[in-house]
Amino acid sequence: MKELTLTTHVKVYQYDELSEEDRKLIDKAKEATARSYAPYSQFAVGAAALLSDGTIVTGTNQENVAYPSGICAERTTLFYANSQYPDQAVRVLAIAAKTEGDFIGKPISPCGACRQVMAETEKRYGQPMRILLYGKQGIYEIENVAGLLPLAFD
Ligand code: THU
Repeated sequence: MKELTLTTHVKVYQYDELSEEDRKLIDKAKEATARSYAPYSQFAVGAAALLSDGTIVTGTNQENVAYPSGICAERTTLFYANSQYPDQAVRVLAIAAKTEGDFIGKPISPCGACRQVMAETEKRYGQPMRILLYGKQGIYEIENVAGLLPLAFD
């Protein structure tokens, strides 16, 4: 018998410890929450993707009265980025969430379906996609999608 141990390294930053580029991306994800459509959950999520040519695209969660028809901010953003800029890798994805008028303290953790889409995006462009999860108490940095989805189906 053999055992495999899979580890995820998460760096936790305070906002002012981040690079200017990362701060800007977090700001864009936070701003995007204002464009969320979340009448059912009242949980507004924004995401911002930095592409390899420097373009930033943002997206939000979009809910629907037929609940499963809605989509998370991460997938809105990645599908939009891949639709509009199919030749640009996604280098960094930042995510922020707001509820009851304030940003959450502990970072949001993306759902399984979004992790699978992140894995596909990373694989498609053949380079790591860094993930920044914003929380008021600290920002988690995960260096690639395997950190969120180990042993991914591919
Ligand atoms: N949601 C996201 O947009 N991203 C996540 O990482 C988790 C959850 C959305 C889905 C739904 O619109 C609302 O947040 C509550 O689950």
